[in-house]
Amino acid sequence: MKVAVVGLGHIGLPLAVQYASRGHTVVGCDVDARIVETLNRGQSPHEDEAALVERVPQLVADGRLRATTDDAAGVRESEVVVIIVPVVVDEARRVDFSHIDAATRELARGLQPGTLVIYETTLPIGTTRTRLGPMLEEGSGLRAGEDFHLAFSPERVLVGRVLLDLARYPKIVGGTTEEATRRAVAFYESALEPGTEIRALASAEAAEMTKLAETTYRDVNIALANEFAQVAARRGIDVTEIIAAANSQPYSHIHQPGVGVGGHCIPVYPHLLFSAEPDMHIPPAARAVNDGMAAFAVGLLGDALGSLAGVDVLVLGIGYRGDVHEDFFSSAFGLRDALVARGARVFGHDPYFDDEHIRRRGFEPYDLAAPVPVRAAILQAAHGAYRDLDFRAIPGLEIVLDGRNALDRGRVEAAGLRYIGVGR
Ligand SMILES: NC(=O)c1ccc[n+]([C@@H]2O[C@H](COP(=O)([O-])OP(=O)(O)OC[C@H]3O[C@@H](n4cnc5c(N)ncnc54)[C@H](O)[C@@H]3O)[C@@H](O)[C@H]2O)c1
Repeated sequence: MKVAVVGLGHIGLPLAVQYASRGHTVVGCDVDARIVETLNRGQSPHEDEAALVERVPQLVADGRLRATTDDAAGVRESEVVVIIVPVVVDEARRVDFSHIDAATRELARGLQPGTLVIYETTLPIGTTRTRLGPMLEEGSGLRAGEDFHLAFSPERVLVGRVLLDLARYPKIVGGTTEEATRRAVAFYESALEPGTEIRALASAEAAEMTKLAETTYRDVNIALANEFAQVAARRGIDVTEIIAAANSQPYSHIHQPGVGVGGHCIPVYPHLLFSAEPDMHIPPAARAVNDGMAAFAVGLLGDALGSLAGVDVLVLGIGYRGDVHEDFFSSAFGLRDALVARGARVFGHDPYFDDEHIRRRGFEPYDLAAPVPVRAAILQAAHGAYRDLDFRAIPGLEIVLDGRNALDRGRVEAAGLRYIGVGR
């Protein structure tokens, strides 16, 4: 089949490579001319996965994969259109549809009768049918469910291992009509690895809610672990011991506490769910708990040092998670704000970001090779580079706050330092 993938980002490019690898002829559409030119030169525009770098040259040389900046032209020649352009939230966590609206209006101009259109971007419930469908109809003059087929299928993969995850997670599919569901199932059977489970749900709305449910579940579960950690801290109990023991019972799946939850997904998707559901109590409360963990951890540090006024503190890891080169909604920012509010001076270090980036984010860049005195260090992102960090090399250091319960407590204490974990 001829397939258009609209949005050749960290998820869209591996999707295009996957479909082309199964023998489809794929055109990737992206507004970013650099991405399009790089791909058409036969190089992978992203290097997240070794398989992309390996496969793109051959697929392009074979004519199975190419790219265009013209969404409408790519869609005009395609039987299936997969859209994976982001929906984001702003600083106030209001949902911003501008990218997907623009892509939808643009691609609608090229939409042909009989085309199957599948949105894969995580969306609030009902968006495919009631927001994007009418835009496609208006731009094309065609009717959804009659002239073209419209479905939703959430992307559940992780950046860096998309091709692997595509082959091992069931593909959830829901159409706006039974025919759209049937066609979407048939498409994924032909485009994903043989044997991948394709699971048809009753509707596009059910498929939209599935992705919001699985990510909100994780946020709520982490919030519960964080409240357990606060109880444990008050009671002098080690929460990591409690969680390991509780999870030895097969119905208990408690996640891990920490100084907060960052990234594009877990702190974002609950808002896509509950912003339209004012009667929901648990997800908004969980969000507040998780966002409050940075201030809670800084409070522990303040208690241990007496006061943080004028104290130099080092935050290790600006990224939102260990070994990722991305700091979207990172908990490092909550720590920074809570430390500044208590009068501390905040240094930041991250092997994945340069000094200029770290300074722009409001931290004084810190050089571990030429360390200046700080009284406290907080492990925010458990980068591999910090696993064997010799804390004795940091002058003036008295205390280490292990924000991910990832350090070897014995090593920290053997260095003559005080160790505080989250709930330990
Ligand atoms: N990143 C993840 O870990 C992840 C995981 C699961 C699902 N998802 C879903 O995938 C979506 C995309 O994520 P990503 O990481 O690939 O984002 P990304 O920012 O890497 O890529 C998005 C691409 O869309 C392009 N784009 C923007 N407007 C466009 C338009 N009008 N026409 C064509 N292209 C346009 C951008 O230039 C960019 O290349 C997310 O919003 C999310 O719903 C992401």
